[in-house]
Amino acid sequence: MGKEKLLQEAKKSADNAYAPYSGFKVGAAILTQSGKIYSGCNVENASYGLTNCAERTAIFKAVSEGERKFKHLLIYVDSDKLFTPCGACRQVINEFTHDIPITVVSNKQSKTFSIKELLPHSFDL
Ligand code: THU
Repeated sequence: MGKEKLLQEAKKSADNAYAPYSGFKVGAAILTQSGKIYSGCNVENASYGLTNCAERTAIFKAVSEGERKFKHLLIYVDSDKLFTPCGACRQVINEFTHDIPITVVSNKQSKTFSIKELLPHSFDL
């Protein structure tokens, strides 16, 4: 399963982003080891701190369907600037993935990281 399919799904999800406050539309797609893709978008709230980021939406959708083993996470933002996941998302990614590529894509560039790079000395139980 290629990165292109994940990007296509992440872009589709970004179209559903509920982002009336930031205007920042994000979509994520995660590939399971069995070859299924779960996607998600950011869902904002008037009480800003309740916002759920796209990557957490995608991961929580997958986990709530019983998925536990993942192969690749891709996050797309409809912007020219590249970004990396927020701290809360890094902790959630760390909970459910182990050494998978985490690809961030903007309209101009893309880069792949590992969770160890994004969240060194992570908190684990
Ligand atoms: N956002 C994501 O969905 N993922 C990220 O990795 C960074 C931020 C969302 C949250 C909020 O809706 C908007 O982008 C601006 O922070």
